[in-house]
Amino acid sequence: MKALVYHGPGQRSWDSVPDSTILDPADAVVRIDSTTICGTDLHILKGDVPEVRPGTVLGHEAVGTVMEVGAAVTAIAPGDRVLVSCITSCGRCRYCKEGHYGLCTGGGGWIFGHLIDGLQAEYARVPFADTSVYKVPEALTDDQVLFLADIMPTAYEVGVLNGRVVPGDTVAIVGAGPIGLAAIMTARLHTPGRIVAIDLADSRLEKALEFGADVAVNNGGDDAIARVQDLTGGEGADVAIEAVGVPETFELCTELVRPGGRVANVGVHGHSATLHLERLWIRDVMITTGLVDTNTTPRLLKLIEGGRLDPTVFATHRFSLAESEGAYDVFSAAAETHALKVVLEAAHVASGTAPERERQVSATA
Ligand SMILES: NC(=O)c1ccc[n+]([C@@H]2O[C@H](COP(=O)([O-])OP(=O)(O)OC[C@H]3O[C@@H](n4cnc5c(N)ncnc54)[C@H](O)[C@@H]3O)[C@@H](O)[C@H]2O)c1
Ligand SMILES: [Zn+2]
Ligand SMILES: [Zn+2]
Repeated sequence: MKALVYHGPGQRSWDSVPDSTILDPADAVVRIDSTTICGTDLHILKGDVPEVRPGTVLGHEAVGTVMEVGAAVTAIAPGDRVLVSCITSCGRCRYCKEGHYGLCTGGGGWIFGHLIDGLQAEYARVPFADTSVYKVPEALTDDQVLFLADIMPTAYEVGVLNGRVVPGDTVAIVGAGPIGLAAIMTARLHTPGRIVAIDLADSRLEKALEFGADVAVNNGGDDAIARVQDLTGGEGADVAIEAVGVPETFELCTELVRPGGRVANVGVHGHSATLHLERLWIRDVMITTGLVDTNTTPRLLKLIEGGRLDPTVFATHRFSLAESEGAYDVFSAAAETHALKVVLEAAHVASGTAPERERQVSATA
């Protein structure tokens, strides 16, 4: 089979690799029908995530078809269409039992394209299949559910729910990349009074307005704190969501928020940021951090099924899986290409031919 393999900082290629097989009775092998690239994959390629060993297949977001299941798998069967999400759950550890799958200590959590081979491939081995994948309702297309594999639950759980957005809130969202835009989209489920998008790139701010932000502020030229104060009668934002991952934007969020408000950090940080406790201690501010758990995936799936949520607008570019190297070039040059999410499709999806499931699927006893 073919897969996009990480070969160390700055190096990746579409290679022939050994076929995915069942290694544990709880595994499934899934044929990847659609996958996508995440900002985190770019972090890995920069060498920012040293746990990823050269030779690992990248990718942690996919929709696919179950080809084979291990003897212990009972909830899915060959032929089922499934969402394979960035987070895997052992279903047994303390954290999985509490719904904190991102913190799984039983071998799950974020493992695809990180600690084990990932999903930018023709096939993938999926551990803990029963407790980790989601069956895709027949009526929904791959595009409708693909972004539930990461950006939608991340923005919703770590941004909107951790930030406890309630009706009427002024929500300031710093960063209007895929995560910030998904935060705008999912904050709207809670009817905020006003969403203020803050970014350095005008093209991203235009997108933010399309996605439902009410006010766009370019903090390269404008004073974002003064703008938010003006909009809120001098109070500040009820909720500030950090969706960039650099010290300045975290510190900005702690200044945008009103006394008694909430700062929800979503960004992945590589450097220490300053927490100004000398100013914050008296302001009753709540600050949250987190890795996505994906425990809201079933809820988001229902909203998509009900026509209340449409993440298909994230798909700006489309490639076949075999063109994944070119897809990385386009995604990593987002400033010029204006890419939000690139969709990589298996040949049978791209050409519109029906997959030959019957011929290929088989169960492992
Ligand atoms: N916590 C989690 O579970 C989780 C999961 C996935 C991604 N993330 C993280 O979320 C963050 C956002 O992801 P993304 O894919 O949207 O990233 P992205 O790089 O595509 O977007 C970041 C946006 O921030 C803007 N920006 C950069 N510096 C800025 C500044 N000083 N002020 C205002 N805006 C600025 C950029 O113009 C860009 O539009 C990343 O750090 C990513 O690693 C976290
Ligand atoms: Zn990701
Ligand atoms: Zn677990």
